[in-house]
Parts: sequence; C-alpha cells; structure tokens
Amino acid sequence: MAKRDPLSHTPTKPGAVWVTGAGKGIGRALALRLAARGHTVAASARTGTDLESLAAEAEGLPGSIFPVTLDVADAASVKAAIDRIEQAIGPLDLAILNAGTHQPLSAKDFDVSVFRSLIDVNLMGTVHCLAEILPGFIGRRAGTIAVVSSVAGYRGLPTAAAYGATKAALINMCEALKPELDQAGVRLALINPGFVDTPLTRRNDFPMPFLISSEEAADHIMRGLDRGAFEIVFPWRMALAMKLLRLMPYSAYFALSRRMLPAQEG
Ligand SMILES: NC(=O)c1ccc[n+]([C@@H]2O[C@H](COP(=O)([O-])OP(=O)(O)OC[C@H]3O[C@@H](n4cnc5c(N)ncnc54)[C@H](OP(=O)(O)O)[C@@H]3O)[C@@H](O)[C@H]2O)c1
Repeated sequence: MAKRDPLSHTPTKPGAVWVTGAGKGIGRALALRLAARGHTVAASARTGTDLESLAAEAEGLPGSIFPVTLDVADAASVKAAIDRIEQAIGPLDLAILNAGTHQPLSAKDFDVSVFRSLIDVNLMGTVHCLAEILPGFIGRRAGTIAVVSSVAGYRGLPTAAAYGATKAALINMCEALKPELDQAGVRLALINPGFVDTPLTRRNDFPMPFLISSEEAADHIMRGLDRGAFEIVFPWRMALAMKLLRLMPYSAYFALSRRMLPAQEG
C-alpha cells in the first residue's frame, strides 16, 4: 500500500495543469478528468488534431483544454511549449509527465535504434520536461509533479529490454529526487500502471492480465493524487503480482519469465 505523503496537496482546487501525452490513451482520459474538475489543462502531444479533438470533447466541462503541440524528445520544443503554457495559463500547480511509447525488442533483433528512440521519448522526454518545470516548482515551494512509469520497470520482462530499461530508470530517478523535493516543498508522485487498454497496448499480440480501460486508469491516478501517495500503482491485482515477482530470487523469477517468451517459430 502506498503511504500518505505529509506534503500532500490535493489538486481539487482548480489550478493550472500540464499533461503530456494527452492526445490518446491514459493522458487523454486524465486531461478530461481534470477539466471536469475545473482545471485549466495544457494538453501536449505531437499530433495537433488529437489535441483539437480533445479540446472539443472538453467543451461544456467546468475547466478547459489548452492544446500545445510538442515533441518531448526535443529539448527546444519542450522549452518553447512550457514558455507558451505558463504565459497563457500561469504557473503550473500540477504536471503529469505521461508521454511515452513502447516497442518490443527480442535478443535476436537487438537494435540500437529501438533503444535510442525509447530512451529519447520515455526517459529523456521526461527529463526535458522536468528540467523546464523544476526551477519554477522549487522557487514557488508548491505543486505536484507526477511521472508516469510502469510496473514493467520493476523487473526485466521478456521482449521489454528497451521499454523496461526506460521505465526502471524513471522509477530510480523519482526515488532519487523524492527526498530533496520533499525538502523543497514540491510533491513528487510516481505512477506505475499495469495493462491499460490504449492505442499503445492494442498493438500487443499477447494476453494482458487484469487489463483496465483508460478511464479506470485515470480514476486510479486521480484518487492516488488526492490521497497524496508517492507511488500510484494499479490495478491492485497486477500491482501485487509484479511486487511479488520483484521479491523473487532469480532462479524462481527466470523459471516464470521463461514461460512469458513468445512461442518459437518453425
Ligand atoms: N497502456 C498501458 O498498458 C501502460 C502501462 C504502463 C505504463 N504506461 C505508460 O503510460 C503512458 C501513456 O501510455 P498510453 O498507453 O496512454 O499510450 P498511447 O495511447 O500511445 O498515448 C501516448 C501519448 O503520448 C504521446 N507521445 C508519444 N510520443 C511523444 C513525443 N515524442 N512527444 C510528445 N508526446 C508524445 C502520443 O501522441 P503523439 O504520438 O501524437 O505524440 C499520445 O498522445 C506511457 O508513458 C506508457 O509507457 C502505459
């Protein structure tokens, strides 16, 4: 169970929020939840049409969507986006750094470019966003930053050598930053979803246990932010299974993970 954070600041008072990866999937569902609570939500992704349709979908909600395209892998694009956002909607109360992508990778087709692109988006993309927003949050001694990683960062999973490495790095980075950010009056949350039905996972051709919808994922995240948790991990059955895997000695773990390998061809 995630512990309550004494620095908890519940973003129920509508304020300025930034969600990256907001065009589809989990980020989109979250942006809508936040707009429904009255927040002004800067919504970012590369595909402008997704953000425009999101803004249209949010019409009539108490809050609003401010679409800002960006590529998180490009530091200059992130800087330009955050300048625009803060000028338009003011200092951020909450940033949810959710943009990410996945590409399976097998040992047979080990490919540097897959590593580079996943590191650029999932890890460096988050780092670029943090570099732009941390000085403001620390200067104001307020606000919440939430980083979306994955339970896939807990242990090395077959075909996820590149994806899992980026997500493990994010978990480690958040653990490292948390004590200092506590001291600085900034709340840090680490979001570790299990399988969520989104355009990203619709490409998977293997069974996804305990799959939930993006809307359910957004509800888990909102509840986690409200209670001031550091780690927001869901759904609970996937969280429990992955936490148990994390505790297993290698011999038992590999006996299980070998069974997760895709069937051999030929
Ligand atoms: N779905 C799951 O089961 C699951 C489980 C654990 C963790 N997660 C994590 O949750 C996050 C969201 O996943 P999702 O399943 O909702 O994915 P998704 O449906 O593919 O949506 C990803 C969003 O991120 C944006 N994005 C991708 N690359 C970007 C870039 N370079 N710059 C800016 N935006 C970018 C995409 O828009 P554009 O392509 O238009 O840029 C899209 O709006 C990811 O970090 C993912 O790793 C997902």
